[in-house]
Amino acid sequence: MAPDSTKGAPRHVAIIMDGNGRWAQRQGKPRLFGHHAGAKRVREIVEACPDLGVKYLTIFAFSTENWKRTQTEVAGLMSLFRRYITKEARALRDEGVRVRFIGDRVRLDAKLIALMDELEEMTSMNDRVHLTIALNYGGRDEVARATKRLAQDVADGKLDPATVDEETLPKYLDTCVLPDPDLVIRTSGEARISNFLLWQSAYAEYEFIDTLWPDFSRDVFAGIVNGFGGRDRRFGAVAT
Ligand code: FPP
Repeated sequence: MAPDSTKGAPRHVAIIMDGNGRWAQRQGKPRLFGHHAGAKRVREIVEACPDLGVKYLTIFAFSTENWKRTQTEVAGLMSLFRRYITKEARALRDEGVRVRFIGDRVRLDAKLIALMDELEEMTSMNDRVHLTIALNYGGRDEVARATKRLAQDVADGKLDPATVDEETLPKYLDTCVLPDPDLVIRTSGEARISNFLLWQSAYAEYEFIDTLWPDFSRDVFAGIVNGFGGRDRRFGAVAT
């Protein structure tokens, strides 16, 4: 039998797609030009996952802090998300991708929410790759919303506070059906996690690379994923 080249691959990779603005500005173009180029990369990276042994891919598309950008950029990004879903839906479904969204939907417009619901529904039978798009997502906001729901269950007598442990809170997080990420990649040279998957990444490995997101190719992704197999993950235990 041929050796399995994906053995030791990270099952769940999460990506902070950073650097679109700088990529555009370096070419004298508006920031939105960079976001459009970044959106094109998403398909290439999703398609690369099965061969690399990556079953779950989670991408940070818009944070709870991104509303602080100019109105033009925010509106442009929202319009890009609507267009992306409309344009990519069929291909994602046909390629066996199951799409989910995480984040707080309250500030999103009704049209975008309807498209998100539709895409989740039409890909719900898929299992080849699980793509999760974080949209109006913030790790602290997610934990706060989860805690509110947990507290409500206690108030309603559905949950005994004495039984709350490390296994309880994740059941209330947006990511409740996903495994924790094994590897978090951030592009564009910044070495910070910017409120992304705070609870879930407690034992993730991190990879910070200088490449700007619109230049993040399948080959760059493959290099990082293939390099992951050599890491010694001890989860707090000692090496044996
Ligand atoms: C960060 O780059 C990127 C974002 C805030 C938006 C991410 C969105 C995309 C990659 C495009 C669309 C995604 C989907 C799922 C369709 P930045 O603007 O902060 O770059 P900078 O640090 O160079 O300014």
